[in-house]
Amino acid sequence: MKEAKIKIIWPNNHETFVSEGDDWFSSAEKAGLEIPTGCLTGSCGACEIDVNGETVRACISDIKSKEKCILKVVLTTDPFWEN
Ligand code: FES
Repeated sequence: MKEAKIKIIWPNNHETFVSEGDDWFSSAEKAGLEIPTGCLTGSCGACEIDVNGETVRACISDIKSKEKCILKVVLTTDPFWEN
């Protein structure tokens, strides 16, 4: 069993613990957030989030933590996808 040792601080100030390799969408859902989606193939950018200052496309990325065990996530917004 994987150990949940990566702490994520979400934009709604909820904090959750996840494991390396967990997916961003279900992890966000556990924190009460929904990451926007579009193509789900990595090409549109609708699911982009900012993780410790680095842009990540959630649909093609698993949660990774290098040396830091705290990831601060910001949902990015794209005017193209807003109405
Ligand atoms: S949903 Fe389009 S890049 Fe992730």
